[in-house]
Amino acid sequence: KYERYENYKNDDMSYEDIVTRVNIGLDQEFYTNASPALDQHEITILVNKYYYLDKDYVPNNLVTLFDSTRGAKMVDVAASSYKELILAAKNDGITLESTTAYRSYDFQNTLYTNYVKSDGVKKADTYSARPGYSEHQTGLAVDLNDPNVTGSRLNDIDYKWLLNNAHNYGFIVRYQEKYIPITGYMEEPWHIRYVGKEIATELHKLDITYEEYYDLYLTDY
Ligand code: DAL
Ligand code: ZN
Repeated sequence: KYERYENYKNDDMSYEDIVTRVNIGLDQEFYTNASPALDQHEITILVNKYYYLDKDYVPNNLVTLFDSTRGAKMVDVAASSYKELILAAKNDGITLESTTAYRSYDFQNTLYTNYVKSDGVKKADTYSARPGYSEHQTGLAVDLNDPNVTGSRLNDIDYKWLLNNAHNYGFIVRYQEKYIPITGYMEEPWHIRYVGKEIATELHKLDITYEEYYDLYLTDY
């Protein structure tokens, strides 16, 4: 990608960052030159605005979350770690529950289409994935809600708890404010993604996006 690195070069970024960002695809508009997600059906799968899942992709081993009243499902390993996380939070006085977890391509399509109708494509793209591009389709992401909070899903105390503890249960807080230029999504304190304890702990230590981690440590060149 030498030419792309050269073209993306700027004075504010180290060569290392330029290479990583171009490898992620950020020198090109979101949703351009997208390709099928690698590591399909693995907990390391990367789904974002450059890597998508087919319409018929359904994760293996989906199970209903222990706290779900509406049948929210996740891949079994993620679901059991999810339970550990919720119980640990409870122990620390933090009440969290699931809203949605696995979402089919068709459901994401309905959501996105409605968002575009009310807010337009540009705005919708800052908070909703297009169908096929949502981490929710992997069965490894879950949205949280604190039933004691009104007006928003979580409060600052909940968010802080997640930032400090989610990695111990294999989850990362995927869409943080400081990650916006890389993820292309607004801050979502409630959206956590299962990657396993080892990777989640590494990511917590490094404090980088999953996109960067994937390029630096999980991609073979
Ligand atoms: N809200 C997240 C980005 C999604 O739609 O998957
Ligand atoms: Zn979400």
